[in-house]
Amino acid sequence: MEKQKLIAQGKAKSMYETDMAKTLLMEFRDDASAFDGKKISALNNKGKVNNQFNAFILNKLEEEGIETHFIKTISNNESLVKRLDMFPIECVVRNRATGSLCRRLGVEDGLILEPPLFEFFLKNDQLGDPLINENHILSFKWANQEEIDAMKSMTFKVNQILRQLFDQANLILVDYKLEFGKFENKILLGDEFTPDGCRLWDKDTLEKLDKDRFRQDLGDVIESYQEVANRLGIQINLD
Ligand code: ADP
Ligand code: CDP
Repeated sequence: MEKQKLIAQGKAKSMYETDMAKTLLMEFRDDASAFDGKKISALNNKGKVNNQFNAFILNKLEEEGIETHFIKTISNNESLVKRLDMFPIECVVRNRATGSLCRRLGVEDGLILEPPLFEFFLKNDQLGDPLINENHILSFKWANQEEIDAMKSMTFKVNQILRQLFDQANLILVDYKLEFGKFENKILLGDEFTPDGCRLWDKDTLEKLDKDRFRQDLGDVIESYQEVANRLGIQINLD
């Protein structure tokens, strides 16, 4: 496999074409960002930890019947994925209120949401990833109804699978963001699932073990991601 042209350099990952058709190399870098790129930093080992964390979770989701773009890891901080035509949309499920939901609606931090709350956001840093609804998606033709329904039902199914997985590791899956894309007319889960894109609280102490440690300057960011990995039984190789 040959790494070829860089096609996208995001805030945390770089996507390269390869000599294999419809296959991208996804490189997890050590860069961390928050607040739509306004706060940036480099965190040692973040790329390696997140690549291996993501591989474990996406494999788990595949085992449970969620189709994803993930093919395999090829180094400690790189994986091969199917090249998707991404929807410019972020799908968020919340089991507890925190973050932007509390700022927007003034609700109590940590409030349990039953049923879990689903929200769509537009993926657009310049606009601060605004909250949107299905009507925006349909009118601006970002996706059709069938695609919306598929993204929503896959995002909820991920909740069922991962809530249980994290619960067994004494963690609360507070909320998370997923991105989807199309591959040969099928909708696949793309991008990543790591502590960068979800919130995980210790069940007993409610200690934050996710990117809020970076957002809120709590320290030990990558150590906390590794703690989560340890509890899930993920062996992280930092060579
Ligand atoms: P951001 O765009 O939020 O800064 P990243 O640094 O994570 O994010 O960059 C990864 C980029 O690659 C994102 O724009 C994401 O939507 C896109 N992407 C993720 N998976 C795939 C895929 N399988 N095919 C094509 N693009 C993808
Ligand atoms: O992070 P913030 O408080 O601004 O946003 P949120 O809407 O409360 O985020 C909900 C969940 O989606 C959190 O787990 C975020 O980490 C994740 N998210 C993300 O990964 N990328 C974004 N652009 C926005 C949210």
